[in-house]
Amino acid sequence: MSESLSLRAGLSRAETYAELWPQIRAVVADEPDLVAKMANVAAALKESFAFLWVGFYRVVGDELVLGPFQGPLACSRIARGRGVCGAAWSEARTIVVPDVDKFPGHIACSSASRSEIVVPFFAPTGEVVFVLDVDSERLDDFGEADREGLERLRGLFA
Ligand code: SME
Repeated sequence: MSESLSLRAGLSRAETYAELWPQIRAVVADEPDLVAKMANVAAALKESFAFLWVGFYRVVGDELVLGPFQGPLACSRIARGRGVCGAAWSEARTIVVPDVDKFPGHIACSSASRSEIVVPFFAPTGEVVFVLDVDSERLDDFGEADREGLERLRGLFA
């Protein structure tokens, strides 16, 4: 198992995801424990990009409950449909928010967060089992490369 990531400098966002993918896969593919996988995925993303916060919220009953993350302290629980995370859960789709101040009901865990992407992960039966939330201090920091790079991570949890 590799213990550190190796990423060339000066790559585009899409190129960085492409270089990162086999390295994350090598670290977590044979790990059966969900929390261990989430923890290393969060750490790898935080180390590779200048994101403010990277972490998981698990569906537990009618709430999302905080899971492994990297970054500042965060809200522990989010109701279904609330905030960007709760909306990505109830709508079962990736949500990109270019400006969090313009997203009705955005939950500001950190006042430094300006833009956000939330990707739901599904059970084989189709229901959302957890979401991956990534926050940035930069406005409009997330695009197609992030959507593709982060949705690809679903393959690690299948
Ligand atoms: N901003 C998120 C809440 C989680 S934190 O930012 C870590 C939301 O609106 O769902």
